[in-house]
Amino acid sequence: QNKEFIKTWVEGKVGVIQLDRPKVLNAINTSMVREIVETAESFDREDDVMVIVIRGDERTFAAGADIDEMAEVDAVTMELRNQFTDWDRLAIVKKPMIAAVTGYAFGGGFELVLCCDMVFASENAQVGFPEVKLGVMPGAGGTQRLTKLVGKTKALEWLWFGDAKPASEAYDLGVINRLFAPEVLFEETMKVAHRLSEQAPISVRLIKESVNKAVDYSVYEGMQYERKNFYMLFATEDQKEGMAAFKEKRKPHFKGK
Ligand code: HXC
Repeated sequence: QNKEFIKTWVEGKVGVIQLDRPKVLNAINTSMVREIVETAESFDREDDVMVIVIRGDERTFAAGADIDEMAEVDAVTMELRNQFTDWDRLAIVKKPMIAAVTGYAFGGGFELVLCCDMVFASENAQVGFPEVKLGVMPGAGGTQRLTKLVGKTKALEWLWFGDAKPASEAYDLGVINRLFAPEVLFEETMKVAHRLSEQAPISVRLIKESVNKAVDYSVYEGMQYERKNFYMLFATEDQKEGMAAFKEKRKPHFKGK
């Protein structure tokens, strides 16, 4: 069912979340974050959904967190509001999340993009963290996630000046997986999402979990995690099916069990 600040639907095995505040370039208020998180969690629990796509409208992804909502707030209110626990919930969604980026992904919009596992963008998109120009900084993981992706020196230059980078530059830095012409971005993103939704479901989720550990842990700790997940896949019917299909020279039929 549709919410106030987002639209949601399912196509095949792909759950789509569309940010929907066009009048303010999809500025993300705390209620929108709550709606995104609750929808992502419900897709995460839904057996028929395998992949989640987060998108803006044709014009823009999101021009940041809602400045109107933040302008007059003091530090104690921020602490008590504790809004980032909602963002934390997004980071533990187990199914793949793909961002489809049009127009601007700035500030909180870029943080939402960086919460996703793969990023597809239109060639005319722009991404960045303009917070420094407002006298603040990213607060939903942006400094951490960007630095892990592009390294310290590139991250600092980007964050200190708050410049918007064209999608092509973000692509070169490894922040964006693939660029598409604006008119085919959503279609192409959905093609990739549909393809991913046909992969062995438990492999896909355990690969995501293991890769995330590579980012968060030391290599040794991450490898212990990977090993456990590798062993665990041998408890699934899909592993038996996948290997039997290979030997029988046919396509595997995965059931997510
Ligand atoms: C609230 C916003 C907004 C935002 C745009 N609008 N961004 N409202 N919060 N982040 C509103 C404008 O006020 C305007 O409303 C309408 O959307 C259209 O925007 P314009 O500025 O007229 O459009 P344009 O000239 O095309 O410029 C686009 C833009 C600019 C370059 C993206 O809007 C802009 O610089 N926006 C702010 C970007 C930003 O600083 N983001 C970071 C926010 S801080 P009216 O009513 O005038 O039509 C942040 C912290 C994250 O994200 C913390 C963790 C969550």
